[in-house]
Amino acid sequence: MASPRLKYLSLGVLVFQTTSLVLTMRYSRTLQAEGPRYLASSAVVVAEMMKILACVLLVFKEHNYSVRALNSILRQEIAHKPIETLKLAIPSGIYTLQNNLLYVALSNLDAATYQVTYQLKILTTALFSVSMLGRRLGVYQWLSLLVLMAGVALVQWPSESAAAPEKDAPPPGSQLVGVAAVLVACCSSGFAGVYFEKILKESKQSVWVRNIQLGLFGLVFGLFGMLAYDGERALGGLVIAAVIKYADNILKGFATSLSIILSTLISYFLLQDFNPTGVFFMGAILVIAATFLYGYEGRAAPNPSRA
Ligand code: C5P
Repeated sequence: MASPRLKYLSLGVLVFQTTSLVLTMRYSRTLQAEGPRYLASSAVVVAEMMKILACVLLVFKEHNYSVRALNSILRQEIAHKPIETLKLAIPSGIYTLQNNLLYVALSNLDAATYQVTYQLKILTTALFSVSMLGRRLGVYQWLSLLVLMAGVALVQWPSESAAAPEKDAPPPGSQLVGVAAVLVACCSSGFAGVYFEKILKESKQSVWVRNIQLGLFGLVFGLFGMLAYDGERALGGLVIAAVIKYADNILKGFATSLSIILSTLISYFLLQDFNPTGVFFMGAILVIAATFLYGYEGRAAPNPSRA
């Protein structure tokens, strides 16, 4: 980045963005009073989509809002340069892991402890910059890294207030999980950041195109992560969305009651771990009858206001 104005503007925006991100993540994962929690893995996927969209818009703007130019840049720089694009798979995979770990951390640590501990990424970044980019650090810089480590250690020191946890404090034991997640995230942050810097500085490709490449892999990895950890819930959510669109919410209720009966029957006939009673069969018949009845009524009188 050549101009100092852009340098300080980007740093200023980063301060604002990090502060609001941490507070909203922490709030939405722990303090949010009511309602179901969103899946952290799906938040990571949505964030990747937003980043790709923003970068595509920036490339579009850079080429005077020409759709043709945008199309050709995306083809030339991404699709026709598979090796260059593949290089981004490494930092992207690591960032995806990191972004998921930070949710684990913020679900288990308060925002302040999380942020101070996460500052250890400065140390890991410095170590990777020295080893991978050949950067040299001065005495004061090494000294500052030692002070940093001491500070983080002090923040982690068990305090008296830990004996009497406050109302919203995470349950005991989860502190360790939170700190472990932050420490792994510090290593990944250092490595992925320096690797990305190396890629950016060794080629002339635009930073936005590089980010689209990064984001595309992030999206793929994020989707895999979401399917692996929350697949049933995430895809279940999609199916529910489809049912609401193509059928309606009441039919959705009937469908899920039918599924209870179905799973019970399967466990009776195939798994043989359930013995249904006569009452169960009565209930089952009522549910199936109600489902058909509802569908029949729906067809006979599509517009209830006319009935
Ligand atoms: O804490 P750290 O600085 O490592 O956080 C980097 C964050 O910025 C990650 O969430 C990563 O996904 C994101 N990132 C990005 N595009 C880049 C570099 C990092 O979205 N080019």
